[in-house]
Amino acid sequence: MAVRPILTIKDERLYQVSEPVTKFDRNLRNLVRDMFDSMAAEGGVGLAAVQIGVLQRVIVIDLVEKGFIKGAFVNPRLLAASEELQDGEEGCLSVPGLSAQLKRPRWVKIGYQDLSGNEKTIEGEMLLARAFLHEMDHLDGKVFVDQLEPEIHRLLAGDIERIKQGLPVENPKVPEYRKKKSA
Ligand code: NI
Repeated sequence: MAVRPILTIKDERLYQVSEPVTKFDRNLRNLVRDMFDSMAAEGGVGLAAVQIGVLQRVIVIDLVEKGFIKGAFVNPRLLAASEELQDGEEGCLSVPGLSAQLKRPRWVKIGYQDLSGNEKTIEGEMLLARAFLHEMDHLDGKVFVDQLEPEIHRLLAGDIERIKQGLPVENPKVPEYRKKKSA
């Protein structure tokens, strides 16, 4: 077990596409354990393996405190999503100090493999749906700050650039977007 450093958006690896997992062995279980440890150390509710520098298609989610689930999902893929959207505040451990409104489907159905390689499906709504979509985006090299509506992105562009340079956020014009980290 180990807490590993979490990459921020100044790291190019966060923009790469992760590889499918093919071996369901002890290395995978150790990776998942490190992901849970690293996420918990930062108070996060979701993490993708790439965020600790491992380009494998693995995500973990812990939304137990919010009334949802805790779990690890290997090779997750979107099977279905509602047309109905939810609007909510989203953050990311790789974008420290910044969060922003982002529309996501209200409900999703996900296919994935468990740590033994068994095929499974799970459905989630609201925060859980948002977490699945956010973490699966990481596996495709996408970070939420690059998906914001243009107007919101424009307001936050200075902060995003500072984080990409490894600096703390500093944008007094939009304090409501500078909240706590989450995923
Ligand atoms: Ni994230």
